[in-house]
Amino acid sequence: MDNTLQTPTILRSDYRPLAWRVESVELDFRLDAEQTLVTSRLACVRVPGASGPLPLDGEDLELVSLRIDGAEAGECMRRTERGLEVTPGSDTATIEIVTRVNPAANTTLSGLYASKGGLFTQCEAEGFRRITYFPDRPDVMARYTVRLEAEQASFPVLLSNGNLVDSGELPGDRHYAVWEDPFPKPSYLFALVAADLEAMERSVETLSGREVLLQVWVEPGNLDRAGHAMDSLVNALRWDEETFGLELDLDRFMIVVVADFNMGAMENKGLNIFNARFVLARPDTATDADFEGIESVVAHEYFHNWTGNRVTCRDWFQLTLKEGLTVFRDQQFSADMLARAAGAEREASARAVKRIDDFRGLRAAQFTEDSGPMAHPIRPDSYQEINNFYTATVYEKGAAVIRMQHTLLGAEGFRKGMNLYFERHDGQAVTCDDFVAAMADANDRDMTQFMRWYSQAGTPVVRASGQWDADARRYTLTLAQHTPPTPGQPEKLPLVIPVAVGLIGPDGNDLPLRLEGDSAAGATTRVLELVEAEQHFVFEDVDAEPVPSLLRGFSAPVLLEIDESDARLAFRMAHDADPCNRWDAAQRYAERVILALAAKADADVPEAFLDAWGALLADESLDPAFVALAATLPGEGWLLERMRPADPAPLRAALMRVMRAIGERFADQWLGLYQRLEVRGPYRYHPADAGCRALRNLALRYLAAAGNEDGLNRAETQFEYAENMTEQFGGLAALVHSASPVAEDALDNFHTRFSSDALVLDKWFALQAGAWRWDEAAPPVLERVKALMDDPAFKLTNPNKVYSLLGAFFRGNPAEFHAADGSGHAFWAEQIIALDAMNPQVASRMARSLENWRRYTPALQTSIRTQLERVRDADGLSPDVAEVVGKALV
Ligand code: PHE
Ligand code: ZN
Repeated sequence: MDNTLQTPTILRSDYRPLAWRVESVELDFRLDAEQTLVTSRLACVRVPGASGPLPLDGEDLELVSLRIDGAEAGECMRRTERGLEVTPGSDTATIEIVTRVNPAANTTLSGLYASKGGLFTQCEAEGFRRITYFPDRPDVMARYTVRLEAEQASFPVLLSNGNLVDSGELPGDRHYAVWEDPFPKPSYLFALVAADLEAMERSVETLSGREVLLQVWVEPGNLDRAGHAMDSLVNALRWDEETFGLELDLDRFMIVVVADFNMGAMENKGLNIFNARFVLARPDTATDADFEGIESVVAHEYFHNWTGNRVTCRDWFQLTLKEGLTVFRDQQFSADMLARAAGAEREASARAVKRIDDFRGLRAAQFTEDSGPMAHPIRPDSYQEINNFYTATVYEKGAAVIRMQHTLLGAEGFRKGMNLYFERHDGQAVTCDDFVAAMADANDRDMTQFMRWYSQAGTPVVRASGQWDADARRYTLTLAQHTPPTPGQPEKLPLVIPVAVGLIGPDGNDLPLRLEGDSAAGATTRVLELVEAEQHFVFEDVDAEPVPSLLRGFSAPVLLEIDESDARLAFRMAHDADPCNRWDAAQRYAERVILALAAKADADVPEAFLDAWGALLADESLDPAFVALAATLPGEGWLLERMRPADPAPLRAALMRVMRAIGERFADQWLGLYQRLEVRGPYRYHPADAGCRALRNLALRYLAAAGNEDGLNRAETQFEYAENMTEQFGGLAALVHSASPVAEDALDNFHTRFSSDALVLDKWFALQAGAWRWDEAAPPVLERVKALMDDPAFKLTNPNKVYSLLGAFFRGNPAEFHAADGSGHAFWAEQIIALDAMNPQVASRMARSLENWRRYTPALQTSIRTQLERVRDADGLSPDVAEVVGKALV
């Protein structure tokens, strides 16, 4: 059966306010792993003037009873496709609903579920309806009181949102706790935890002098891995006070770790629940990247307390209202933290490294999404399954759209807009229009055209060309924009695009800029506003032909097209004052060379390219963290996006050749860097140290790729003797990404050492699934992946395991995944179908790894289509996967 015909589409234009308000919710849980009884008492009031019943969503629930004002509901209740509908006899009613659920059987990890003996909830987006019948939509905001009761021995800790107002023991070794959340909230922010946990605690004073208790709850034995998350939380709290005047509004703020979680973390009011990988860190188990990820995710969830919780979304189409804004906030926070740690002299470079990292992520994930069958505006107009719209577009492009507002209005103007937004909307469920209106009104600026960023999908292309007029000493920059068609949007209108521009003189220095009409020259970087399909910008007093440096700091989420010779790219690699554009120049050059090699198997890696690369390595004025980014070749996924038709095998061969060439040609430099940048002393998570480690690990990768014996020896030594995970894993990765005969032993060794550490094993799985075959005689990686699925540590029910083994293979190893015999595609279909029966959200995320199949070679397309159809027609397919494969096959 074709499942895609079965799944209804929900439209943004269909939004209607509810006829009822829910003033308060009293929840009573008799918790048990297999039979949890939930009693919910809703105080409902009809909206004045509105008519109609109160629809209650419900999914996978056993209804025990439903009473209205104390009486059996009888005729006043009927079952509907989505749950129930009740029609109270008067305009105020108390509805009491008793349901029974089975957390242990809930493998979806949405609603109430069991993990390692504890009970946890996940309600965003529509999980609350899997706990009790409720109008489960974000514009229904109510005050919650929650009573939890459970057996004391199995569930010693009982947590919910807000403040603990009562607790005690009960007969029969049971106990209870009562929690009250003083702030009205939508149901998706509800949470409870009942488990055996220990807390790290810290008490801090807020801006206004209130004492608040911060807790990080972890499994017993893991307290020594909670410190970094706690530090990050305190930093985030301070930052939001300083930057936006936003204070923590509760007496207590909790973070709870869980091993089984679909996403990164969840911002439930006062009770954030985190995937363990974004909390637990000790130098010997977590890498620098892990430490960085923890800092940003802890901050992200904390920042949601204002952007998401105090002001929430009216409906799920507005998701970017909270996510784009909160990602922007966490990006700014991380940049500030890095800058502060780096010190005044290195501050700009530290910020640039963060910008590059963020932009690289946007390009890899979002630009690809935006050119495929799932392309959607940051505020979508329709969806079949909302869980499919927690996307790079809503998050990352959404953050870029907020960033442009920050750029156009300035930091101060942006702050004024934020103030007005909270002044107007605190306690409300609002839309993206409300946010932009606050920005516009606070700054007296018309943002009508800017709003197109919220409604148009697709990555805009900015085409640039320049003309220097020697006699008039003028330089005219022409910028043109267009956005390619996307599904359902054949035509696009011009956007407001802030283009930060610099002009580099022949000596490599930036020119002071004087735009036509300016009285005098000013800064060396200017933000131009491109609002028409095509515009000319004229710069005066330009004595020699300059080299333009465009979109500095990645000032807009667009693709820049510009004709640049190899020589000019090398020039910008060496001289562009904007580190983001230096990186970009290196990436463009590498992309050009690699794609040319992929098209012509016997060509050589051009000397000029190697020279440019060598200059980068030789420049000791550069921060190691920057060099590590600039000297990393563009990602394979991105290169496939740029290659038509996409052909993973020759691309992989080309990448290997370039890596070997860079490794061989600069072996001495790499070894020299490796020696010079050694970090001594005990591990600390610090950007300067992390930069050195990153560049040294990269050196090992290039040397290992080239089969350099010194390099391989160093990788082995580093693997064996390192005292921190960054270096240990860096050594291991270099060995695995080489033809080294010791790689297998090293992998075994690592597995033995960390056999009981789930998070470290995730790295071990991912490394092998993503491995390249440097040794041509090695068996296909698919065989390894299949064998690893039998490892006792691997569980298809644990999302982290799925992401690290299957995700790393499907998304991170295209040449192996797209093996010509179609074995990878068949394996994909089997796994999607198996996963979907347990956890549709995870299955759907994995399913998306084939959505851009139409850009591959005809032979691969045929193979992929067969498997997409196989999944589409599978029995009992979830709407989640049906939407993804359905759109892919359109
Ligand atoms: N709202 C969470 C976040 O961004 C993400 C999330 C979505 C988590 C859905 C769980 C389920 O921060
Ligand atoms: Zn978020």
